[in-house]
Amino acid sequence: MSDQVFEQIAEELYQQGYSVLSHALPDTLCRALAQEVRDLPAERFSRAGVGRQEAYVKAETIRRDEICWIDNTTEAGHAWLEWADKLQQAINRRLFLGLFSFESHYAHYQAGDFYKVHRDAFRGQQNRVLTLVAYLNPDWQAEDGGELLIYPDEGHEPLLSVLPEFGTLVVFLSEEFPHEVLPAQTDRYSIAGWYRINSGNSRRVDPAR
Ligand code: OGA
Ligand code: MN
Repeated sequence: MSDQVFEQIAEELYQQGYSVLSHALPDTLCRALAQEVRDLPAERFSRAGVGRQEAYVKAETIRRDEICWIDNTTEAGHAWLEWADKLQQAINRRLFLGLFSFESHYAHYQAGDFYKVHRDAFRGQQNRVLTLVAYLNPDWQAEDGGELLIYPDEGHEPLLSVLPEFGTLVVFLSEEFPHEVLPAQTDRYSIAGWYRINSGNSRRVDPAR
């Protein structure tokens, strides 16, 4: 079942650089993640920033979500990272992207929160290569909003608009596609993750984040 999903993601990435699949995340895993993100105490979340390390700035005009990084220490986190690793292997086998590591966080958008148009990586900075987004919202309605819009380039009409429905997966080449999250009417839960290649020279391994 997952193998077929991995195969389809790899094929669509090859054909068009992105893939959007509904009901793609295994149901048990999706339920465990949806439960965990709602059970997390508020203090585990922090206001999301823009940029990495020293370039990190709080930028409330650009994004308003709160995030919590996912690690191996919980059952749901462990299962998610294991699943993401299998996807990594399948994509590397099929596309030779050389994906090397994966980092991901839960994101909670409260009603009215947004993330303006941005790219997840910039050409020449070989860090984030592939973006993976998973949605954790049972019974999401079109009227709830919160769509992810994906653009072919700045200043163009969106290529697609994705509702953050339970089990939907979005994968795209991080450098290629500007995208944004429109405000929702209600709490919106997602996971955003990035596969990276090892850009360190010699035997140095890039530090995470
Ligand atoms: C991000 C992002 C999309 C979403 O966190 O970089 O674009 O739909 N998230 O949550
Ligand atoms: Mn993004």
